[in-house]
Amino acid sequence: MQSSSITTQHQNIRQIGINLNYWYVVARSTEVKTQPLSVVLWNQPIVIYRDSTGKIHALEDRCPHRQVKLSHGKVTGDELECAYHGWRFNEAGECAAVPYLAANQKLPTCQIRRYPVQELDGFIWLFPGDSTDLEAQNFSFLKPLGVPEWDHLNYIATVSVIQCNAHYSYLIENLMDMYHGHLHQDWQAWTDAVLEDIHEEVNRVDAHYQAQSYYKIDKIWSISQLFFPALRRLHPEPLDVSYIYPHWVSTLGKDFKIYCLLCPVNETTTRAYLIHFTSLNAFWRLHKLPVAFRRFVKNSLFGSAQKLLDGLVVEDVQMIEEEQQAYLNNPERRGYELNRALVSVQRLMKNQAEQD
Ligand code: FES
Ligand SMILES: [Fe+2]
Repeated sequence: MQSSSITTQHQNIRQIGINLNYWYVVARSTEVKTQPLSVVLWNQPIVIYRDSTGKIHALEDRCPHRQVKLSHGKVTGDELECAYHGWRFNEAGECAAVPYLAANQKLPTCQIRRYPVQELDGFIWLFPGDSTDLEAQNFSFLKPLGVPEWDHLNYIATVSVIQCNAHYSYLIENLMDMYHGHLHQDWQAWTDAVLEDIHEEVNRVDAHYQAQSYYKIDKIWSISQLFFPALRRLHPEPLDVSYIYPHWVSTLGKDFKIYCLLCPVNETTTRAYLIHFTSLNAFWRLHKLPVAFRRFVKNSLFGSAQKLLDGLVVEDVQMIEEEQQAYLNNPERRGYELNRALVSVQRLMKNQAEQD
């Protein structure tokens, strides 16, 4: 194992920005109901709402009249109505109505920012960058990552929300460093990771580890391993983790796939959605059953890994927040790094942040 020091980058990586020209995840689909939802993505307050047809829209969360938050208001028809004086705004962010407008007065020509937004695979994806680029060009990296397993009948999903008081770089490093299995004594899914290969591209780092997995989902009852640790048997499995800017994806053998979809809130706050999929691919008999039954199985087992996932998140968040605090208390103090994958992801994060 090559030893590298990241001390030269240490001063800046905890303060870098994000590349805004990517799709970020700002909410789960189920969080956006009839009431407008206020979210913050890299210091930008944004209001998300559904119109009368259920379509999602995203506007700057600021009423141009008196600068209060539009997210305190409500949706009226297809327009967003401010709570204070009832001015209404359309999906383009233009003022569409003022309830007390006199006959001789014109509508104010105020305009707030609208964000490209889409609902895909159970989540709300938002593009905070320059949308003229997005509309004028059609680069594949400008598409949202997506979660194809979300609606797939062979995958059972569990979702956990990560809310931590730390710069996003700490979370990404935690997710890419499989040597931290040590932390998860009770919830450990893998052990004995060995980094075998790293592949770097302009917007992704793929790290390939070999590890021992605690789970083997080859019989239908083996899903109970998620609840009963005594049923687990260690066996070797490939463990792949990828930072696909700005999100993260991992597979452990054929049985598990995990996504972490990021919403960096500001320099010291990060929100993210962790989605764990247990695969039913091994059960070919199940695949012959009617689709309605398979959907019933998928829906009934939704959240079956909740305890495991929430347990992992609590332990990771505690470490990540302590790292952030230690940095704030002693920014000049230097750490040590032995995992080459972390040097690669730090390089990627810095390069992406500089491009914005
Ligand atoms: S502050 Fe929004 S309508 Fe007056
Ligand atoms: Fe962890």
